[in-house]
Amino acid sequence: MADESRFVPVAGEADIAPGEVTIVGAEGRTFCLARTEDGRWGAIDNVCTHDGGTLGEGELDEHCVECPRHGARFDLFTGEVKAMPAVFPVNAYPVRVRDGVVEVDLGVPVKELEIG
Ligand code: FES
Repeated sequence: MADESRFVPVAGEADIAPGEVTIVGAEGRTFCLARTEDGRWGAIDNVCTHDGGTLGEGELDEHCVECPRHGARFDLFTGEVKAMPAVFPVNAYPVRVRDGVVEVDLGVPVKELEIG
């Protein structure tokens, strides 16, 4: 399967402090973007697969994003579920920083989210 990178700018590097989670938009979609305390960046879908919570309004604990609604946790780099009540993963997107601009790779293959 073809896998072509397609990085698009979503934020300024200085806009997001280490340990922060935020919502960014690109191409009509929103994403949960976060910067870990040790300076790594990651992006996942902005929708919790438990019941549609907004992950970009959640909190970061090391490299997991905690949903603000019922506390499900998702790995920032893989999208895997790390804590219930969610059971289905979200998509994860590679992130890079170039010249102070944070870019998310929208070229990766994504799966339709299963909610519930
Ligand atoms: S909606 Fe995210 S844990 Fe329930």
